[in-house]
Amino acid sequence: MKIFAVNGSPNMKKGMTHILLDNFLEGARDAGAEVETVFLQKKKINYCIGCFTCWVKTPGVCIHKDDMAELLDKVREADCLVIGTPLYVDGMTAQTKTFLDRIIPLSDPHFELVDGHYRHPRRSGEKPTDVVLASVCGFYERDNFDGLIDHMERICRNMQVRFVGAVVRPSSYIFTLEEILADPVREIKEAARRAGRELVETGELSERVLDDVARDYLPRDAFLKGSNEFWDRCIKAGKFLAL
Ligand SMILES: Cc1cc2nc3c(=O)[nH]c(=O)nc-3n(C[C@H](O)[C@H](O)[C@H](O)COP(=O)(O)O)c2cc1C
Repeated sequence: MKIFAVNGSPNMKKGMTHILLDNFLEGARDAGAEVETVFLQKKKINYCIGCFTCWVKTPGVCIHKDDMAELLDKVREADCLVIGTPLYVDGMTAQTKTFLDRIIPLSDPHFELVDGHYRHPRRSGEKPTDVVLASVCGFYERDNFDGLIDHMERICRNMQVRFVGAVVRPSSYIFTLEEILADPVREIKEAARRAGRELVETGELSERVLDDVARDYLPRDAFLKGSNEFWDRCIKAGKFLAL
């Protein structure tokens, strides 16, 4: 399986998205996948300007001359696209959405009926067939991801690709507490690696492995107290101390 992963976190290697995605992809690599990751923040990706040049004048080729051409080639060659993004204001980051908007050259403008909806078919031979979401968020409750997951499912139906599942980790800054919470952090990373292996070996992500990645380890009141003390320390220091 050929996996192309994008990381839409502006914090790139310092971020919690990277920790989740990196472990997930390590598991996939261990199971034999060929994996490539790109940090969107490092790439020049202009906004889609809605001109439809890629549909009517230069089929499959965008009017912008930027890094998206190279990324589209990687998407085209992959069996599975992994979208890594932190949760920002209940959705994906702007970097991630800009990347996804720029994927429309892969579709053909004509409409066809699919499961009761008119959709644009993908240009012939265009991969990928599968999409996975990998996301982290700062809040405690897992249901903070509901809006993002629903959006990704709809994007996949729109793009006519299979949404395999969402590997999500709430309370993302637990990754920075390795000194005091060594076992939970190790278990979360292990679960993420297991999820990556599962994807390659079975083509699926089981509920069990996704639950293990998202598992609560801190009692709610400890999260509240610890988080508020952390922000007080940050305010005192005048900088965000988790990165
Ligand atoms: C602009 C912004 C918006 C955010 N919105 C949410 C949110 O709606 N819900 C949430 O749980 N966390 C939210 N967060 C917290 C991030 O999801 C969290 O800090 C995450 O670890 C960021 O990923 P990174 O470490 O890879 O940068 C937000 C953070 C930022 C900077």
